Amino acid sequence: MEPRSPYNSPFLIGTMRLGIWGAKMTTAEYERFIDTCVEMGLDEFDHADIYGHYTTESEFGAVLKKRPDLRKKLRITTKCGIKMIAENRPSHKIKSYDSSAKHIIWSAENSLKELGVEQLEVMLLHRPDYLMNPSEIAEAFEHLRVAGKVKYFGVSNFTTSQFALLNQYTPLITNQLEISILHRNAFEDGTLDQLLRERIIPTAWSPVGGGAIFSESEKEEVQRIQKKVKELAERHECQVDQLLLAWLRKHPSGIVPVLGSTKVERVQGAMDSLRIELSREEWYEVWEGAIGHEVA
Ligand SMILES: NC(=O)c1ccc[n+]([C@@H]2O[C@H](COP(=O)([O-])OP(=O)(O)OC[C@H]3O[C@@H](n4cnc5c(N)ncnc54)[C@H](OP(=O)(O)O)[C@@H]3O)[C@@H](O)[C@H]2O)c1
Repeated sequence: MEPRSPYNSPFLIGTMRLGIWGAKMTTAEYERFIDTCVEMGLDEFDHADIYGHYTTESEFGAVLKKRPDLRKKLRITTKCGIKMIAENRPSHKIKSYDSSAKHIIWSAENSLKELGVEQLEVMLLHRPDYLMNPSEIAEAFEHLRVAGKVKYFGVSNFTTSQFALLNQYTPLITNQLEISILHRNAFEDGTLDQLLRERIIPTAWSPVGGGAIFSESEKEEVQRIQKKVKELAERHECQVDQLLLAWLRKHPSGIVPVLGSTKVERVQGAMDSLRIELSREEWYEVWEGAIGHEVA
């Protein structure tokens, strides 16, 4: 049976590093970046209210406000639920989580305003809130869905039990998890098994390890991974980031990586990586490189 998912591109475009937390793009640079991604067929963008300390959504929105043609083409995911201390959120006294209905509804409406769109494709709870009340969250989601403000809902960084609990109250369309060769928990802690069982597509943040693999490291694990992926990249005549994406794609759950690059050439490289097929043994070569010994 086909998985339940609104995602129909091979990658989401992450926006965390586009603004003041990374490339500090001007409006013209955002526009060029978005246009080029859309030309490549990548029209699903991953936001969060907090990116750039609550500034990236509105910077991105500045492009959409002047380009209604683009606004119609994009499908936007955003996240809420983390309350970060920031100049433009003076009421936040400590960093905390808030999954109350009031905060969820306010956040969705605020993101719509910042982004300049009428509907969000997906809204995720960014992190599990220890005080979350599943029936209250389900009601907030239903309110937003009926009002036409958000089409689908999901979560991020949820454990299997947190996911199962909320999914009983409201249908979730993804659990966005940190998954890469540097962060392998999801393969072993049951989260990917659960998504496979429920036929829900996992989305993977920091799919190439947030860039850590590309710089010198004193950690032996990173050095072993670097050596192995370089060798395999040479074998497949591709770049290391392309190899790492092909490695994630090999998993049967249908992981959709959320690309974090701010460079259109690397986004194009990701699209080109779709040609790379790793064998099962090659997948385990990379795994073995990471753990430093053969599997049991
Ligand atoms: N749900 C959550 O809790 C959560 C948490 C974090 C992130 N996210 C989402 O996930 C997205 C991706 O996360 P991420 O940015 O950490 O992902 P990533 O794709 O693993 O890392 C991107 C970083 O790696 C660098 N990089 C990629 N390929 C490279 C190469 N070949 N050589 C050198 N540097 C390279 C990029 O630099 P360049 O820009 O120079 O290419 C960028 O700094 C974010 O934008 C955000 O939307 C979600």
